[in-house]
Amino acid sequence: MSEQARKAAAVVAEAAPGFRPRVGLTLGSGLGALAERVENAIVVDFRDLPGFPEPSVEGHHGRLVLGRLGGQDVACLQGRVHLYEGHPAQAVVPLVRTLKLLGCETYFATNAAGALDRDAEPGQLMLITDHINMQFANPLVGPNDESFGPRFPPMDGAYDAEHQALLRRVADDLGVTLREGVYLATLGPSFESHAEVRAFARLGANAVGMSTVPEVIVARHCGLRVAAISVLTNLAAGLSDMVLSHEQTLQYGHAAADDLRRLVLGFLEGLPSASA
Ligand code: HPA
Repeated sequence: MSEQARKAAAVVAEAAPGFRPRVGLTLGSGLGALAERVENAIVVDFRDLPGFPEPSVEGHHGRLVLGRLGGQDVACLQGRVHLYEGHPAQAVVPLVRTLKLLGCETYFATNAAGALDRDAEPGQLMLITDHINMQFANPLVGPNDESFGPRFPPMDGAYDAEHQALLRRVADDLGVTLREGVYLATLGPSFESHAEVRAFARLGANAVGMSTVPEVIVARHCGLRVAAISVLTNLAAGLSDMVLSHEQTLQYGHAAADDLRRLVLGFLEGLPSASA
């Protein structure tokens, strides 16, 4: 997995010589439009990157977009690995480690999720402050590559406190409602049963989705600072009359895309000029 990341980073270095992104972003379902705002974009197809899978879900493109966004050099993963596609959790490793090898200091994940809080409204954004891994898989299982991080990485403060503070400030300035809470990841691809939704809420989760947690584990292992935002595309199953579907996820993802775009741009613009 590390070897694939090294090869992928070499491919990127050839496509974009000397380019050193500071922030790596993953743009989730229906949220890929942000990549179209990247200036002086250099695009590398996932197919050309060793270890990068060809995503199969509608709304996921499978491209790495390098360039300038919000005054920062960034690398946008337009598409991600979902375990429900049949990939092992380890398949996430090359993507995140490639960002690390390219020079990223921060990993910024966005995703679509179902809200577990009854007062949430579809289209609202949620700052992820912690997670619960209910995928029963961990991307770091297997031999550890010490050059990236330790065998037993802590998950304390996985979601960077300074990044959280900046996102709260930016949302406040923009007048964008930013909920916050714990993101719980399931394997998917089925949506949750009503009993699962009740159970997850009691476990302390505020949103449920099918991604991001393995990426965050790999990112923290190799010392990337993490920021993550969920677009709450729906109330979780049984909390409203809506019947859940991927189309609905994409529809509300698009509806919230503008708020998310402004929030991410404000975050990038607000990052202190030198790393802390
Ligand atoms: N559950 C799981 N994943 C999701 C949901 C949901 O309700 N909405 C968008 N992604």
